[in-house]
Amino acid sequence: MTDFFPPLDGIVDSYPKDFSLKEGLDVTVRPLEIGDNRALFQFFQAVPENERLFIKHKVQEQQVIDGWCKHLDYEKNFPLVAMDADGHILASCTLHQNGFGWKRHIGRISVFVHADFRRRGLAQALVQEIMGVARQLGLEKLEAEFVAEQKRALRVFALLGFSDLATFPKYVMDMQGKHHDYLLMGIHLTTDIEYAGVGG
Ligand SMILES: CC(C)(COP(=O)(O)OP(=O)(O)OC[C@H]1O[C@@H](n2cnc3c(N)ncnc32)[C@H](O)[C@@H]1OP(=O)(O)O)[C@@H](O)C(=O)NCCC(=O)NCCS
Repeated sequence: MTDFFPPLDGIVDSYPKDFSLKEGLDVTVRPLEIGDNRALFQFFQAVPENERLFIKHKVQEQQVIDGWCKHLDYEKNFPLVAMDADGHILASCTLHQNGFGWKRHIGRISVFVHADFRRRGLAQALVQEIMGVARQLGLEKLEAEFVAEQKRALRVFALLGFSDLATFPKYVMDMQGKHHDYLLMGIHLTTDIEYAGVGG
């Protein structure tokens, strides 16, 4: 296989999609766009202090968010956002791809849900959506990274079929210099043909 980046156009064109979730929560899901910089900045401003560790980037800085939105490269990072009717971002889930090298068949997935909109199925819906995108792109595996304290996230991913791949004790460090266990979860993706039972 030489082409690990089949065109994303068809996938992008399949959005926006509307979802009706628990407690009457209606959202529109679509890829992040250049004009979303303010909404995305607001979304990350609301991240509780104790959860900043879970985000690897300086998302508190407007210029970081502006840079992401300005230089969108869906083939490297494909971010889906869930928006309410007023254009607020309530959740974000990204498929990260290497495109080259020994991990080119493995995508990495990250997800974050606004603290006021949790337990309504947003993470589940977005992760499933990104799993579908990864399958369409022909990726073989998906992985997700956690610190051991992210119990809720571990549960969500386990429910969606991810299993523990590795644990590195006291491997990562938070802003206060405290070390935490690092966990890697993963899933082997089956194609739609395999699902249908006609695969070789
Ligand atoms: C983890 C996180 C993504 C979950 O988002 P969410 O939208 O609340 O999750 P969902 O509503 O889709 O939950 C799906 C299922 O996971 C389980 N779950 C989710 N949150 C849970 C909680 N607080 N306690 C127990 N189970 C929980 C439940 O089984 C839930 O289904 P149910 O509500 O029908 O019981 C969200 O809490 C978050 O953004 N946390 C901080 C960032 C993070 O940890 N990201 C993951 C790193 S990749």
